[in-house]
Amino acid sequence: MYVCICNALTDRDIRAAVAEGTSTFADLRDSTGCSGCCGNCEDVARAVFDEAVTAQSRPLGLPLFAHAA
Ligand code: FES
Repeated sequence: MYVCICNALTDRDIRAAVAEGTSTFADLRDSTGCSGCCGNCEDVARAVFDEAVTAQSRPLGLPLFAHAA
């Protein structure tokens, strides 16, 4: 889905940026322009970004409930 209309940025683009090493939202903004124009996308973009960073830090991409055991 499109997250940032101003920059034609999708949730997949954000996940790909995280997978390629983008580790802060500021870096995402600098590299993609996300939330740098009108800013209407920032809340959703941050949520997608945070989710992607969290998923990236889990071993083998396992879902969160796998850590409970
Ligand atoms: S929709 Fe993302 S900066 Fe406007």
